[in-house]
Amino acid sequence: MKQFHKEINRRRTFGIISHPDAGKTTLTEKLLLFGGAIQEAGAVKSNKIKKGATSDFMEIERQRGISVATSVLAFEYKDIKINILDTPGHKDFAEDTFRTLTAVDSVIVVIDVAKGVEEQTEKLVEVCRMRNIPMIVFINKLDREGKDAFELLDEIEQKLNLKVTPLSFPIGMGYDFKGIYNIWEKNVNLFTGDPRKDIEETVKIEDLQDEALDDLVGSKAAENLRDELELAQGVYPEFDRQTYLDGHLQPVFFGSALNNFGVRELLDCFIKIAPTPRPKESDTRLVKPDENDFTGFVFKIHANMDPKHRDRLAFIKIVSGKFERNKNYLHVRNNKNMKFSSPNAFFAEKKEIVDVSYPGDIVGLHDTGNFKIGDTLTEGENLMYKGIPSFSPEHFRYINNADPMKSKQLEKGIDQLMDEGVAQLFILEMNGRKVIGTVGALQFEVIQYRLEHEYGAKCTYENLNVHKATWVETEDEKSEEFKDFKRVKSKYLAKDKSGQLVFLADSQFSLQMTQQKYPSIKFHFTSEF
Ligand code: G4P
Repeated sequence: MKQFHKEINRRRTFGIISHPDAGKTTLTEKLLLFGGAIQEAGAVKSNKIKKGATSDFMEIERQRGISVATSVLAFEYKDIKINILDTPGHKDFAEDTFRTLTAVDSVIVVIDVAKGVEEQTEKLVEVCRMRNIPMIVFINKLDREGKDAFELLDEIEQKLNLKVTPLSFPIGMGYDFKGIYNIWEKNVNLFTGDPRKDIEETVKIEDLQDEALDDLVGSKAAENLRDELELAQGVYPEFDRQTYLDGHLQPVFFGSALNNFGVRELLDCFIKIAPTPRPKESDTRLVKPDENDFTGFVFKIHANMDPKHRDRLAFIKIVSGKFERNKNYLHVRNNKNMKFSSPNAFFAEKKEIVDVSYPGDIVGLHDTGNFKIGDTLTEGENLMYKGIPSFSPEHFRYINNADPMKSKQLEKGIDQLMDEGVAQLFILEMNGRKVIGTVGALQFEVIQYRLEHEYGAKCTYENLNVHKATWVETEDEKSEEFKDFKRVKSKYLAKDKSGQLVFLADSQFSLQMTQQKYPSIKFHFTSEF
Protein backbone atom coordinates (compact mmCIF):
# COMPACT_ATOMS: atom_id res chain seq x y z
CA MET A 1 0.00 0.00 0.00
CA LYS A 2 2.84 2.32 0.89
CA GLN A 3 4.41 1.60 -2.48
CA PHE A 4 1.12 2.42 -4.19
CA HIS A 5 0.98 5.88 -2.58
CA LYS A 6 4.60 6.50 -3.38
CA GLU A 7 3.97 5.68 -7.03
CA ILE A 8 1.02 8.07 -7.19
CA ASN A 9 2.90 10.87 -5.50
CA ARG A 10 5.82 10.68 -7.85
CA ARG A 11 3.75 11.13 -10.99
CA ARG A 12 3.23 14.38 -12.90
CA THR A 13 1.08 14.22 -16.02
CA PHE A 14 0.84 17.38 -18.07
CA GLY A 15 0.49 18.89 -21.51
CA ILE A 16 2.38 21.66 -23.24
CA ILE A 17 0.17 24.08 -25.12
CA SER A 18 1.11 26.88 -27.46
CA HIS A 19 0.39 28.57 -30.72
CA PRO A 20 2.32 26.78 -33.51
CA ASP A 21 5.98 27.84 -33.69
CA ALA A 22 6.23 29.20 -30.15
CA GLY A 23 8.62 26.36 -29.32
CA LYS A 24 6.56 23.50 -27.88
CA THR A 25 8.50 20.78 -29.69
CA THR A 26 11.84 22.32 -28.80
CA LEU A 27 10.90 22.62 -25.14
CA THR A 28 9.61 19.03 -25.03
CA GLU A 29 12.87 17.84 -26.46
CA LYS A 30 14.95 19.74 -23.91
CA LEU A 31 12.86 18.35 -21.08
CA LEU A 32 13.49 14.85 -22.38
CA LEU A 33 17.21 15.59 -22.58
CA PHE A 34 17.18 16.49 -18.89
CA GLY A 35 15.48 13.23 -18.07
CA GLY A 36 18.19 11.41 -20.00
CA ALA A 37 15.36 9.94 -22.05
CA ILE A 38 17.00 10.95 -25.32
CA GLN A 39 20.63 11.53 -26.07
CA GLU A 40 20.61 14.16 -28.73
CA ALA A 41 18.71 17.14 -29.98
CA GLY A 42 16.48 16.52 -32.98
CA ALA A 43 15.15 13.21 -31.68
CA VAL A 44 11.66 14.50 -31.12
CA LYS A 45 10.06 15.33 -34.42
CA SER A 46 7.72 18.20 -34.74
CA ASN A 47 4.37 16.76 -35.66
CA LYS A 48 2.97 19.94 -36.98
CA ILE A 49 1.76 20.26 -40.51
CA LYS A 50 3.77 22.93 -42.22
CA LYS A 51 1.92 25.66 -44.05
CA GLY A 52 0.86 24.78 -47.56
CA ALA A 53 1.05 21.06 -47.01
CA THR A 54 -2.68 20.65 -46.51
CA SER A 55 -3.21 18.78 -49.74
CA ASP A 56 -0.12 16.65 -49.38
CA PHE A 57 -1.43 13.31 -48.19
CA MET A 58 1.98 11.89 -47.57
CA GLU A 59 2.56 14.76 -45.21
CA ILE A 60 -0.63 14.00 -43.34
CA GLU A 61 0.28 10.34 -43.16
CA ARG A 62 3.76 11.14 -41.98
CA GLN A 63 2.49 13.51 -39.39
CA ARG A 64 0.00 10.97 -38.12
CA GLY A 65 2.67 8.31 -37.90
CA ILE A 66 4.85 10.55 -35.86
CA SER A 67 2.10 11.74 -33.62
CA VAL A 68 1.35 8.15 -32.54
CA ALA A 69 4.90 7.89 -31.35
CA THR A 70 4.80 11.22 -29.58
CA SER A 71 1.30 10.97 -28.15
CA VAL A 72 2.77 10.30 -24.73
CA LEU A 73 6.36 10.97 -23.76
CA ALA A 74 7.38 9.66 -20.37
CA PHE A 75 10.66 10.02 -18.54
CA GLU A 76 12.11 10.09 -15.07
CA TYR A 77 13.79 13.10 -13.51
CA LYS A 78 15.00 13.16 -9.90
CA ASP A 79 12.86 10.12 -9.15
CA ILE A 80 9.74 11.80 -10.52
CA LYS A 81 7.86 10.03 -13.30
CA ILE A 82 6.86 12.65 -15.84
CA ASN A 83 4.23 12.01 -18.52
CA ILE A 84 3.95 14.62 -21.25
CA LEU A 85 0.81 14.34 -23.35
CA ASP A 86 1.15 15.69 -26.85
CA THR A 87 -1.31 18.35 -27.93
CA PRO A 88 -1.38 19.19 -31.63
CA GLY A 89 -0.88 22.90 -32.21
CA HIS A 90 -2.53 23.01 -35.64
CA LYS A 91 -5.96 24.57 -35.27
CA ASP A 92 -7.68 21.94 -37.40
CA PHE A 93 -6.77 19.43 -34.71
CA ALA A 94 -7.88 21.63 -31.82
CA GLU A 95 -10.54 19.14 -30.78
CA ASP A 96 -7.89 16.49 -30.32
CA THR A 97 -6.08 18.92 -28.05
CA PHE A 98 -9.24 19.75 -26.07
CA ARG A 99 -9.79 16.05 -25.44
CA THR A 100 -6.21 15.52 -24.38
CA LEU A 101 -6.60 18.36 -21.90
CA THR A 102 -9.19 16.25 -20.06
CA ALA A 103 -6.38 13.80 -19.25
CA VAL A 104 -3.72 16.20 -17.96
CA ASP A 105 -3.27 17.27 -14.35
CA SER A 106 -1.54 20.52 -15.29
CA VAL A 107 -0.17 22.39 -18.30
CA ILE A 108 2.79 24.49 -19.37
CA VAL A 109 1.90 27.33 -21.74
CA VAL A 110 4.68 28.37 -24.13
CA ILE A 111 4.64 31.95 -25.41
CA ASP A 112 6.95 33.52 -27.98
CA VAL A 113 8.63 36.60 -26.49
CA ALA A 114 8.25 38.55 -29.72
CA LYS A 115 4.76 37.47 -30.73
CA GLY A 116 3.22 37.44 -27.28
CA VAL A 117 -0.22 35.90 -26.80
CA GLU A 118 -1.48 34.39 -30.07
CA GLU A 119 -4.85 33.11 -31.22
CA GLN A 120 -4.37 29.41 -30.50
CA THR A 121 -2.91 30.17 -27.06
CA GLU A 122 -6.04 32.10 -26.19
CA LYS A 123 -8.38 29.26 -27.14
CA LEU A 124 -6.43 26.54 -25.37
CA VAL A 125 -5.82 28.55 -22.22
CA GLU A 126 -9.51 29.34 -22.03
CA VAL A 127 -10.32 25.63 -21.94
CA CYS A 128 -7.78 25.12 -19.13
CA ARG A 129 -9.00 28.14 -17.22
CA MET A 130 -12.59 26.92 -17.33
CA ARG A 131 -11.48 23.63 -15.82
CA ASN A 132 -9.18 25.28 -13.27
CA ILE A 133 -6.19 23.33 -14.57
CA PRO A 134 -2.99 24.60 -12.92
CA MET A 135 -0.82 26.40 -15.48
CA ILE A 136 2.80 27.48 -15.62
CA VAL A 137 3.80 29.97 -18.34
CA PHE A 138 7.14 29.72 -20.14
CA ILE A 139 8.13 32.77 -22.18
CA ASN A 140 10.45 31.49 -24.87
CA LYS A 141 13.09 32.81 -27.32
CA LEU A 142 14.68 35.34 -24.95
CA ASP A 143 17.78 35.14 -27.14
CA ARG A 144 15.78 37.18 -29.64
CA GLU A 145 14.55 40.72 -29.54
CA GLY A 146 11.01 40.74 -28.18
CA LYS A 147 8.51 42.53 -26.00
CA ASP A 148 9.38 43.99 -22.63
CA ALA A 149 8.81 41.58 -19.71
CA PHE A 150 6.21 43.78 -18.01
CA GLU A 151 4.39 44.36 -21.27
CA LEU A 152 4.20 40.59 -21.79
CA LEU A 153 3.00 39.86 -18.27
CA ASP A 154 0.33 42.52 -18.78
CA GLU A 155 -0.71 41.03 -22.08
CA ILE A 156 -0.99 37.56 -20.53
CA GLU A 157 -3.21 38.88 -17.77
CA GLN A 158 -5.41 40.86 -20.14
CA LYS A 159 -5.77 38.52 -23.08
CA LEU A 160 -5.71 35.21 -21.22
CA ASN A 161 -7.55 36.44 -18.19
CA LEU A 162 -4.94 35.00 -15.84
CA LYS A 163 -3.32 36.20 -12.64
CA VAL A 164 0.44 35.86 -13.04
CA THR A 165 3.52 36.11 -10.90
CA PRO A 166 7.04 35.87 -12.35
CA LEU A 167 9.28 33.22 -10.75
CA SER A 168 12.20 34.19 -12.94
CA PHE A 169 13.14 37.45 -14.60
CA PRO A 170 15.19 38.18 -17.72
CA ILE A 171 18.33 40.29 -17.50
CA GLY A 172 18.33 42.06 -20.85
CA MET A 173 16.98 40.55 -24.02
CA GLY A 174 17.95 39.58 -27.56
CA TYR A 175 21.43 40.85 -28.40
CA ASP A 176 21.79 42.15 -24.85
CA PHE A 177 20.45 39.06 -23.12
CA LYS A 178 22.68 38.35 -20.13
CA GLY A 179 20.75 35.67 -18.34
CA ILE A 180 17.94 35.23 -15.89
CA TYR A 181 17.47 35.87 -12.24
CA ASN A 182 15.66 32.97 -10.64
CA ILE A 183 13.30 34.49 -8.09
CA TRP A 184 12.25 31.01 -6.96
CA GLU A 185 15.78 29.79 -6.21
CA LYS A 186 17.39 33.21 -5.68
CA ASN A 187 20.24 32.79 -8.13
CA VAL A 188 21.54 34.14 -11.39
CA ASN A 189 22.02 31.99 -14.45
CA LEU A 190 24.29 33.51 -17.07
CA PHE A 191 23.51 33.07 -20.74
CA THR A 192 26.40 31.76 -22.78
CA GLY A 193 24.45 30.68 -25.84
CA ASP A 194 25.82 27.17 -25.72
CA PRO A 195 22.89 24.79 -26.09
CA ARG A 196 24.95 21.71 -25.37
CA LYS A 197 25.57 22.20 -21.71
CA ASP A 198 22.85 20.43 -19.83
CA ILE A 199 23.69 21.55 -16.33
CA GLU A 200 23.74 25.30 -16.23
CA GLU A 201 26.07 27.18 -13.96
CA THR A 202 24.19 29.30 -11.54
CA VAL A 203 25.49 31.79 -9.03
CA LYS A 204 23.67 32.13 -5.77
CA ILE A 205 22.66 35.74 -5.04
CA GLU A 206 20.69 35.80 -1.79
CA ASP A 207 20.73 39.57 -1.54
CA LEU A 208 20.05 41.56 -4.68
CA GLN A 209 22.14 44.45 -3.35
CA ASP A 210 25.17 42.15 -3.36
CA GLU A 211 27.91 43.62 -5.57
CA ALA A 212 28.54 40.18 -6.97
CA LEU A 213 25.54 40.86 -9.17
CA ASP A 214 27.28 43.89 -10.69
CA ASP A 215 30.36 41.81 -11.35
CA LEU A 216 28.31 39.14 -13.06
CA VAL A 217 26.16 41.18 -15.41
CA GLY A 218 27.62 44.70 -15.29
CA SER A 219 26.45 47.62 -13.17
CA LYS A 220 23.88 48.95 -15.60
CA ALA A 221 22.10 45.63 -16.07
CA ALA A 222 22.33 44.95 -12.32
CA GLU A 223 20.70 48.30 -11.49
CA ASN A 224 18.01 47.67 -14.07
CA LEU A 225 17.28 44.25 -12.63
CA ARG A 226 17.04 45.63 -9.09
CA ASP A 227 14.54 48.27 -10.24
CA GLU A 228 12.49 45.80 -12.24
CA LEU A 229 12.33 43.24 -9.47
CA GLU A 230 11.28 45.89 -7.00
CA LEU A 231 8.53 46.95 -9.35
CA ALA A 232 7.51 43.32 -9.94
CA GLN A 233 7.32 42.68 -6.22
CA GLY A 234 4.98 45.61 -5.83
CA VAL A 235 2.72 44.61 -8.70
CA TYR A 236 2.52 40.82 -8.58
CA PRO A 237 1.39 38.66 -5.68
CA GLU A 238 3.83 36.38 -3.94
CA PHE A 239 3.74 32.83 -5.27
CA ASP A 240 1.42 30.56 -3.33
CA ARG A 241 1.31 26.90 -4.27
CA GLN A 242 -2.29 26.25 -3.26
CA THR A 243 -3.55 29.21 -5.28
CA TYR A 244 -1.63 27.85 -8.27
CA LEU A 245 -3.07 24.36 -7.72
CA ASP A 246 -6.57 25.81 -7.55
CA GLY A 247 -5.97 27.42 -10.95
CA HIS A 248 -6.04 31.00 -9.67
CA LEU A 249 -2.37 31.97 -9.98
CA GLN A 250 0.05 31.25 -12.83
CA PRO A 251 3.80 31.40 -12.24
CA VAL A 252 5.88 32.64 -15.18
CA PHE A 253 9.38 31.59 -16.30
CA PHE A 254 11.60 33.12 -18.98
CA GLY A 255 14.15 31.30 -21.11
CA SER A 256 15.21 30.01 -24.46
CA ALA A 257 14.30 26.43 -25.24
CA LEU A 258 16.53 26.28 -28.29
CA ASN A 259 19.53 27.27 -26.17
CA ASN A 260 18.44 24.99 -23.37
CA PHE A 261 18.37 28.03 -21.18
CA GLY A 262 15.98 28.44 -18.28
CA VAL A 263 14.60 24.98 -18.92
CA ARG A 264 16.22 23.32 -15.90
CA GLU A 265 14.76 26.05 -13.65
CA LEU A 266 11.37 25.43 -15.13
CA LEU A 267 11.63 21.67 -14.68
CA ASP A 268 12.99 21.85 -11.12
CA CYS A 269 10.19 24.15 -10.06
CA PHE A 270 7.64 22.09 -11.99
CA ILE A 271 8.40 18.85 -10.16
CA LYS A 272 8.09 20.66 -6.83
CA ILE A 273 4.86 22.55 -7.41
CA ALA A 274 2.92 20.73 -10.14
CA PRO A 275 0.03 18.57 -8.95
CA THR A 276 0.20 14.81 -8.48
CA PRO A 277 -2.66 12.94 -10.20
CA ARG A 278 -5.89 14.73 -9.39
CA PRO A 279 -9.30 13.31 -8.43
CA LYS A 280 -11.87 13.18 -11.23
CA GLU A 281 -15.60 13.71 -11.28
CA SER A 282 -17.74 10.83 -12.61
CA ASP A 283 -21.48 10.70 -13.17
CA THR A 284 -21.99 9.22 -9.71
CA ARG A 285 -19.17 10.54 -7.52
CA LEU A 286 -15.69 12.05 -7.22
CA VAL A 287 -13.02 9.37 -7.69
CA LYS A 288 -9.70 9.74 -5.88
CA PRO A 289 -6.43 8.40 -7.28
CA ASP A 290 -5.51 6.42 -4.15
CA GLU A 291 -8.68 4.32 -4.20
CA ASN A 292 -8.03 0.60 -4.41
CA ASP A 293 -10.07 -0.18 -7.48
CA PHE A 294 -8.86 0.71 -10.92
CA THR A 295 -10.79 3.22 -13.04
CA GLY A 296 -9.75 5.02 -16.20
CA PHE A 297 -11.11 6.59 -19.36
CA VAL A 298 -10.31 6.77 -23.07
CA PHE A 299 -9.25 10.24 -24.21
CA LYS A 300 -7.70 9.42 -27.54
CA ILE A 301 -7.87 6.71 -30.16
CA HIS A 302 -5.26 6.37 -32.80
CA ALA A 303 -5.16 4.17 -35.86
CA ASN A 304 -2.14 1.91 -35.99
CA MET A 305 0.29 3.00 -38.65
CA ASP A 306 1.75 -0.44 -39.20
CA PRO A 307 -0.07 -1.78 -42.29
CA LYS A 308 0.31 -5.35 -40.97
CA HIS A 309 -1.65 -4.50 -37.85
CA ARG A 310 -4.70 -2.55 -38.76
CA ASP A 311 -5.95 -2.33 -35.20
CA ARG A 312 -6.11 0.84 -33.21
CA LEU A 313 -4.59 2.07 -30.01
CA ALA A 314 -6.93 3.45 -27.35
CA PHE A 315 -5.21 5.73 -24.86
CA ILE A 316 -6.46 5.32 -21.30
CA LYS A 317 -5.70 7.75 -18.51
CA ILE A 318 -5.60 5.89 -15.20
CA VAL A 319 -7.61 7.82 -12.62
CA SER A 320 -7.54 5.45 -9.64
CA GLY A 321 -6.10 2.11 -8.54
CA LYS A 322 -3.62 -0.04 -10.39
CA PHE A 323 -4.07 -1.14 -13.98
CA GLU A 324 -2.82 -4.70 -14.41
CA ARG A 325 -2.12 -6.78 -17.46
CA ASN A 326 -4.47 -9.76 -18.05
CA LYS A 327 -6.94 -8.69 -15.40
CA ASN A 328 -10.65 -8.45 -16.13
CA TYR A 329 -12.09 -4.94 -16.36
CA LEU A 330 -15.57 -3.68 -17.08
CA HIS A 331 -16.15 -1.66 -20.24
CA VAL A 332 -19.01 0.29 -18.71
CA ARG A 333 -20.80 1.53 -21.86
CA ASN A 334 -20.85 -1.94 -23.42
CA ASN A 335 -21.39 -3.66 -20.06
CA LYS A 336 -18.75 -6.15 -21.12
CA ASN A 337 -15.72 -7.60 -19.36
CA MET A 338 -12.41 -7.28 -21.15
CA LYS A 339 -8.82 -8.10 -20.39
CA PHE A 340 -5.71 -6.89 -22.10
CA SER A 341 -2.71 -9.09 -22.71
CA SER A 342 -0.42 -6.45 -24.12
CA PRO A 343 -1.08 -3.00 -22.70
CA ASN A 344 1.52 -0.47 -23.83
CA ALA A 345 3.28 2.01 -21.63
CA PHE A 346 5.13 4.90 -23.22
CA PHE A 347 8.70 5.97 -22.77
CA ALA A 348 10.65 8.70 -24.50
CA GLU A 349 10.01 7.70 -28.10
CA LYS A 350 9.01 4.09 -27.74
CA LYS A 351 6.28 1.95 -26.29
CA GLU A 352 6.63 -1.26 -24.32
CA ILE A 353 4.33 -3.86 -22.85
CA VAL A 354 3.79 -3.16 -19.19
CA ASP A 355 2.46 -5.27 -16.29
CA VAL A 356 1.30 -2.58 -13.88
CA SER A 357 0.52 1.12 -14.30
CA TYR A 358 -0.51 3.73 -11.75
CA PRO A 359 -2.79 6.76 -11.56
CA GLY A 360 -1.48 9.53 -13.78
CA ASP A 361 -0.08 7.02 -16.26
CA ILE A 362 -1.35 6.47 -19.75
CA VAL A 363 -1.69 2.97 -21.17
CA GLY A 364 -2.29 2.20 -24.82
CA LEU A 365 -4.70 -0.69 -25.42
CA HIS A 366 -5.02 -2.52 -28.73
CA ASP A 367 -8.54 -2.17 -29.92
CA THR A 368 -10.48 -3.71 -32.76
CA GLY A 369 -13.39 -1.30 -32.54
CA ASN A 370 -14.72 -1.64 -28.98
CA PHE A 371 -13.75 1.78 -27.76
CA LYS A 372 -14.83 5.27 -28.44
CA ILE A 373 -13.65 8.55 -26.97
CA GLY A 374 -14.89 9.01 -23.42
CA ASP A 375 -15.38 5.30 -22.62
CA THR A 376 -14.77 4.28 -19.01
CA LEU A 377 -13.11 1.10 -17.71
CA THR A 378 -13.57 0.01 -14.09
CA GLU A 379 -13.13 -3.00 -11.84
CA GLY A 380 -16.87 -3.52 -11.85
CA GLU A 381 -18.31 -0.26 -10.56
CA ASN A 382 -20.96 1.26 -12.75
CA LEU A 383 -19.61 4.78 -13.24
CA MET A 384 -18.76 6.92 -16.25
CA TYR A 385 -16.36 9.80 -16.46
CA LYS A 386 -17.71 13.05 -17.77
CA GLY A 387 -16.16 15.92 -19.56
CA ILE A 388 -15.28 14.90 -23.09
CA PRO A 389 -17.89 16.81 -25.04
CA SER A 390 -18.07 17.15 -28.79
CA PHE A 391 -17.75 20.72 -29.96
CA SER A 392 -19.91 22.29 -32.58
CA PRO A 393 -18.15 21.71 -35.91
CA GLU A 394 -17.52 24.57 -38.31
CA HIS A 395 -17.37 22.79 -41.66
CA PHE A 396 -20.04 20.54 -43.12
CA ARG A 397 -20.30 18.33 -46.19
CA TYR A 398 -22.49 15.52 -47.41
CA ILE A 399 -20.52 12.34 -47.71
CA ASN A 400 -21.38 10.03 -50.64
CA ASN A 401 -20.31 6.51 -51.48
CA ALA A 402 -18.17 6.53 -54.63
CA ASP A 403 -17.85 2.76 -54.96
CA PRO A 404 -21.16 0.88 -54.57
CA MET A 405 -19.30 -2.43 -54.22
CA LYS A 406 -17.68 -1.16 -51.03
CA SER A 407 -20.59 0.24 -49.07
CA LYS A 408 -19.98 -2.06 -46.07
CA GLN A 409 -16.37 -0.93 -45.86
CA LEU A 410 -17.45 2.68 -46.08
CA GLU A 411 -19.96 2.26 -43.24
CA LYS A 412 -17.36 0.61 -41.04
CA GLY A 413 -14.71 3.17 -41.88
CA ILE A 414 -16.96 6.13 -41.15
CA ASP A 415 -18.12 4.49 -37.95
CA GLN A 416 -14.63 3.90 -36.65
CA LEU A 417 -13.22 7.25 -37.69
CA MET A 418 -16.06 8.98 -35.84
CA ASP A 419 -15.31 6.88 -32.73
CA GLU A 420 -11.74 8.12 -32.95
CA GLY A 421 -13.11 11.64 -32.88
CA VAL A 422 -11.71 12.65 -36.27
CA ALA A 423 -15.03 14.30 -37.12
CA GLN A 424 -18.72 14.07 -36.30
CA LEU A 425 -21.45 12.33 -38.23
CA PHE A 426 -24.97 13.69 -38.49
CA ILE A 427 -27.83 11.86 -40.16
CA LEU A 428 -30.52 14.08 -41.61
CA GLU A 429 -33.97 13.26 -40.24
CA MET A 430 -35.62 14.14 -43.53
CA ASN A 431 -33.86 11.74 -45.88
CA GLY A 432 -31.24 9.79 -43.93
CA ARG A 433 -28.34 11.42 -45.76
CA LYS A 434 -25.01 11.48 -43.98
CA VAL A 435 -23.32 14.77 -43.15
CA ILE A 436 -19.79 15.04 -41.82
CA GLY A 437 -18.97 17.96 -39.58
CA THR A 438 -15.39 18.93 -38.74
CA VAL A 439 -13.58 21.59 -36.79
CA GLY A 440 -11.03 22.17 -39.56
CA ALA A 441 -11.16 21.76 -43.32
CA LEU A 442 -8.11 19.49 -43.27
CA GLN A 443 -10.08 16.64 -41.72
CA PHE A 444 -12.07 16.05 -44.92
CA GLU A 445 -8.89 15.13 -46.72
CA VAL A 446 -7.70 13.00 -43.84
CA ILE A 447 -11.01 11.11 -43.80
CA GLN A 448 -11.05 10.54 -47.56
CA TYR A 449 -7.47 9.35 -47.52
CA ARG A 450 -7.90 7.07 -44.54
CA LEU A 451 -11.16 5.55 -45.83
CA GLU A 452 -9.35 4.56 -48.98
CA HIS A 453 -6.11 3.33 -47.43
CA GLU A 454 -7.39 1.70 -44.29
CA TYR A 455 -10.84 0.48 -45.29
CA GLY A 456 -10.63 0.21 -49.08
CA ALA A 457 -13.62 2.52 -49.50
CA LYS A 458 -14.06 5.58 -51.67
CA CYS A 459 -16.08 8.66 -50.87
CA THR A 460 -16.91 11.98 -52.43
CA TYR A 461 -18.16 15.13 -50.75
CA GLU A 462 -20.89 17.53 -51.64
CA ASN A 463 -21.19 21.03 -50.30
CA LEU A 464 -23.87 21.83 -47.82
CA ASN A 465 -24.73 25.21 -46.47
CA VAL A 466 -24.57 24.88 -42.70
CA HIS A 467 -23.22 27.53 -40.38
CA LYS A 468 -23.35 25.75 -37.01
CA ALA A 469 -24.61 22.53 -35.48
CA THR A 470 -26.33 22.96 -32.14
CA TRP A 471 -27.59 20.28 -29.80
CA VAL A 472 -31.27 20.66 -29.02
CA GLU A 473 -32.69 20.36 -25.52
CA THR A 474 -36.30 20.57 -24.48
CA GLU A 475 -38.03 19.94 -21.18
CA ASP A 476 -41.18 18.78 -22.87
CA GLU A 477 -41.12 16.88 -26.12
CA LYS A 478 -44.89 16.96 -26.31
CA SER A 479 -45.24 20.72 -26.08
CA GLU A 480 -46.85 22.56 -28.99
CA GLU A 481 -43.75 24.71 -29.28
CA PHE A 482 -41.44 21.74 -29.73
CA LYS A 483 -43.81 20.08 -32.20
CA ASP A 484 -43.94 23.29 -34.19
CA PHE A 485 -40.15 23.56 -34.15
CA LYS A 486 -39.78 20.00 -35.44
CA ARG A 487 -42.28 20.60 -38.20
CA VAL A 488 -41.03 23.98 -39.37
CA LYS A 489 -37.35 23.09 -39.15
CA SER A 490 -37.61 19.47 -40.31
CA LYS A 491 -35.23 20.15 -43.19
CA TYR A 492 -32.53 21.22 -40.75
CA LEU A 493 -32.78 18.48 -38.16
CA ALA A 494 -30.41 15.59 -37.75
CA LYS A 495 -29.31 13.00 -35.22
CA ASP A 496 -25.73 12.69 -34.02
CA LYS A 497 -24.05 9.33 -33.47
CA SER A 498 -25.52 8.86 -30.05
CA GLY A 499 -29.01 9.72 -31.25
CA GLN A 500 -29.19 13.24 -29.84
CA LEU A 501 -31.20 15.76 -31.81
CA VAL A 502 -29.16 18.41 -33.61
CA PHE A 503 -30.28 21.60 -35.35
CA LEU A 504 -28.14 22.55 -38.36
CA ALA A 505 -28.53 26.29 -38.72
CA ASP A 506 -27.69 27.66 -42.15
CA SER A 507 -26.67 31.09 -40.86
CA GLN A 508 -26.05 33.02 -37.69
CA PHE A 509 -29.22 34.94 -38.46
CA SER A 510 -31.43 31.89 -38.76
CA LEU A 511 -29.97 30.49 -35.53
CA GLN A 512 -30.85 33.71 -33.72
CA MET A 513 -34.34 33.81 -35.21
CA THR A 514 -34.94 30.21 -34.21
CA GLN A 515 -33.74 30.87 -30.67
CA GLN A 516 -36.10 33.83 -30.42
CA LYS A 517 -39.07 32.02 -31.88
CA TYR A 518 -38.71 28.99 -29.59
CA PRO A 519 -37.67 30.36 -26.19
CA SER A 520 -38.38 27.13 -24.30
CA ILE A 521 -35.91 25.16 -26.43
CA LYS A 522 -32.22 25.32 -25.63
CA PHE A 523 -29.54 25.23 -28.34
CA HIS A 524 -26.16 24.05 -27.10
CA PHE A 525 -22.77 24.42 -28.76
CA THR A 526 -21.32 21.27 -27.19
CA SER A 527 -22.87 17.84 -26.92
CA GLU A 528 -22.70 17.79 -23.12
CA PHE A 529 -25.06 20.00 -21.18
P1 G4P B 1 6.15 24.40 -32.02
O1 G4P B 1 6.38 22.97 -31.67
O2 G4P B 1 5.56 25.19 -30.91
O3 G4P B 1 5.43 24.61 -33.29
O4 G4P B 1 7.59 25.10 -32.23
P2 G4P B 1 9.01 24.47 -32.48
O5 G4P B 1 9.57 23.89 -31.25
O6 G4P B 1 8.96 23.61 -33.70
O7 G4P B 1 9.82 25.79 -32.76
C1 G4P B 1 9.49 26.68 -33.82
C2 G4P B 1 10.74 27.38 -34.31
O8 G4P B 1 11.25 28.22 -33.25
C3 G4P B 1 11.86 26.44 -34.69
O9 G4P B 1 12.58 27.02 -35.74
C4 G4P B 1 12.73 26.44 -33.45
O10 G4P B 1 14.06 26.10 -33.71
C5 G4P B 1 12.61 27.88 -33.00
N1 G4P B 1 12.88 28.06 -31.55
C6 G4P B 1 12.41 27.34 -30.50
N2 G4P B 1 12.90 27.81 -29.33
C7 G4P B 1 13.68 28.87 -29.65
C8 G4P B 1 14.46 29.78 -28.87
O11 G4P B 1 14.55 29.70 -27.64
N3 G4P B 1 15.13 30.75 -29.56
C9 G4P B 1 15.08 30.87 -30.92
N4 G4P B 1 15.76 31.85 -31.48
N5 G4P B 1 14.35 30.02 -31.68
C10 G4P B 1 13.66 29.04 -31.06
P3 G4P B 1 12.29 26.67 -37.28
O12 G4P B 1 13.31 27.35 -38.08
O13 G4P B 1 10.85 26.93 -37.60
O14 G4P B 1 12.41 25.12 -37.32
P4 G4P B 1 13.71 24.23 -37.36
O15 G4P B 1 14.05 24.18 -38.79
O16 G4P B 1 14.73 24.93 -36.50
O17 G4P B 1 13.24 22.95 -36.78
